[in-house]
Amino acid sequence: MNTMVKTAAGKPLSQKMITPPYKMIGQDVSVFYGEKRALFDVNLNIRENTVTALIGPSGCGKSTFLRSLNRMNDTIENCRVTGRITLDDQDIYDTVIDVVELRARVGMVFQRPNPFPKSIYENVAYGPRIHGLHKSKADLDHIVETSLQRAGLWGEVKDRLLEAGTSLSGGQQQRLCIARAVAVSPEVILMDEPCSALDPIATAKVEELIHELRENFTIVIVTHSMQQAARVSQRTAMFHLGQLVEENDTDKMFTNPDDQRTQDYIMGRFG
Ligand SMILES: Nc1ncnc2c1ncn2[C@@H]1O[C@H](COP(=O)(O)OP(=O)(O)OP(=O)(O)O)[C@@H](O)[C@H]1O
Ligand SMILES: [Mg+2]
Repeated sequence: MNTMVKTAAGKPLSQKMITPPYKMIGQDVSVFYGEKRALFDVNLNIRENTVTALIGPSGCGKSTFLRSLNRMNDTIENCRVTGRITLDDQDIYDTVIDVVELRARVGMVFQRPNPFPKSIYENVAYGPRIHGLHKSKADLDHIVETSLQRAGLWGEVKDRLLEAGTSLSGGQQQRLCIARAVAVSPEVILMDEPCSALDPIATAKVEELIHELRENFTIVIVTHSMQQAARVSQRTAMFHLGQLVEENDTDKMFTNPDDQRTQDYIMGRFG
């Protein structure tokens, strides 16, 4: 069989386009909380410079899978992960892996904005300081400025960098947390329902930001909003009862999914 894939213009696609470059590969990932099994042999690969949305009803294992990508599950007592997860072909659960370094490469933004009780400047400077990413104060100032710019917040905070991070609005705080994540130059950014505590305007700003960040970062986002998944992601993975039901192009997922359970979920029949 001729498997050559052609574009609309008839040109063959390069192999690179046929086999997407995967930033992370999850193979037979299972997660247990004590005796309880939360994920069942999940095989899900994360494409580079792509936004992947994780959807599915409450309790299906989205956050659990997300946390397994930067070993945040390690911080939960009794939690055990089996299977294999790689970042650029390196097993992230290998004993040689420095977890602090891993979490700098695979950063995380949480559901509720959680700035440190420090100034706006210090919130962003904190990570680069710990990881020694700067040589001088000027370097650090530069990292803080560019990170805030990337998070679409610079214009709003440049004259109040020494004010407390918590003095910002909820939406600004979430963008501050994104700036903080971006400041250590991660390769992957994990976001667990980053807009669920935000109003529609703040949500729109964060969504726009996610769209821009994709150029430089690989993003995995958990969301309860089908509209948000459709707006921000190129790939969508649907979970149900700890299993990966389907992973597909977002367009296809929302128009013509392969699995009946996906169909039911997006039609609002459960969850
Ligand atoms: N720390 C924990 N200890 C024990 N069980 C847990 C823990 N965290 C999650 N679970 C269980 O694992 C399963 C998956 O939970 P998870 O939080 O990953 O789901 P989710 O898809 O993110 O749900 P939601 O949409 O409500 O956030 C659930 O049955 C949950 O009760
Ligand atoms: Mg969750």
